Amino acid sequence: MGKLDGRVVIITGAARGQGEQEARLFAAEGASVLLGDVLDEQGAAVAKDIGEDRARYVRMDVSREEDWAAAIAVAKATFGPIDGLVNNAGILRFNELTATPLEEFQQVVQVNQVGAFLGIKTVAPEIEAAGGGTIVNTSSYTGLTGMAYVGTYAATKAAILGLTRVAALELAGKGIRVNAMCPGAVDTPMANPGLLDPANLTDEARDAMAELYKRVVPMGRVGQPEEIAKLALFLTGEDSSYITGQPFVIDGGWMAGVSIL
Ligand SMILES: NC(=O)c1ccc[n+]([C@@H]2O[C@H](COP(=O)([O-])OP(=O)(O)OC[C@H]3O[C@@H](n4cnc5c(N)ncnc54)[C@H](O)[C@@H]3O)[C@@H](O)[C@H]2O)c1
Repeated sequence: MGKLDGRVVIITGAARGQGEQEARLFAAEGASVLLGDVLDEQGAAVAKDIGEDRARYVRMDVSREEDWAAAIAVAKATFGPIDGLVNNAGILRFNELTATPLEEFQQVVQVNQVGAFLGIKTVAPEIEAAGGGTIVNTSSYTGLTGMAYVGTYAATKAAILGLTRVAALELAGKGIRVNAMCPGAVDTPMANPGLLDPANLTDEARDAMAELYKRVVPMGRVGQPEEIAKLALFLTGEDSSYITGQPFVIDGGWMAGVSIL
């Protein structure tokens, strides 16, 4: 028996990184998964690898309401009533706040914040119609504390926690639980762009990353996307049946405090 037997879950940004691992784990636990992303080749390959009976890829830009409608239609036609959503898609831009072009700020808001809002807005009625279910939003360490040079991103991730709390309040009576994950540093192309071109990732660059995480993360290492997927599974499955409206920090202890040694 899987922890998600019979569930139908939409996962955004599932072509790679954390979303990919969430799709793989959810399918292994018995769910049918609709993978949405803008990286068509990768998304389709992941869905194919999981298997047609369990996974389907659709191109969807989470900032476009019409793409949500189309993805929902495909998920329902392929797998039946939708009872889960993981709002995972996101983008990161590094910039000093005073140097950030307005267009860049708005682009990050569109994907991270508007994308999560549209997911809740369009999928929650489907989950209600299915008799209840779950929404997991992907915030960040930076949704709870500051980090220089990622101000735009941090603002959207804090906004996602606001959306999570309000959605939990408004949807609890409809049988829908809404929680958020706040990962620290996770080894995906977002935090480690070298993964996109491993052949050109020098030993020096690899060592510098490892040294950084050893210094700032109490557990001494970067997180793996599979570890975040396990938290998403917990928040989607019955093991979290009495939990809603909460942010879950998953960061190897990074936010616990500052070491003086
Ligand atoms: N990697 C980290 O250190 C870290 C830390 C905290 C939070 N997060 C969050 O975790 C989530 C997953 O990120 P990841 O680490 O797997 O990075 P990633 O860059 O590997 O994956 C993000 C995915 O989102 C997709 N995406 C981007 N814009 C989209 C859009 N408009 N519509 C649909 N899909 C879109 C990308 O194509 C990609 O497949 C993001 O929300 C990110 O902000 C990541």
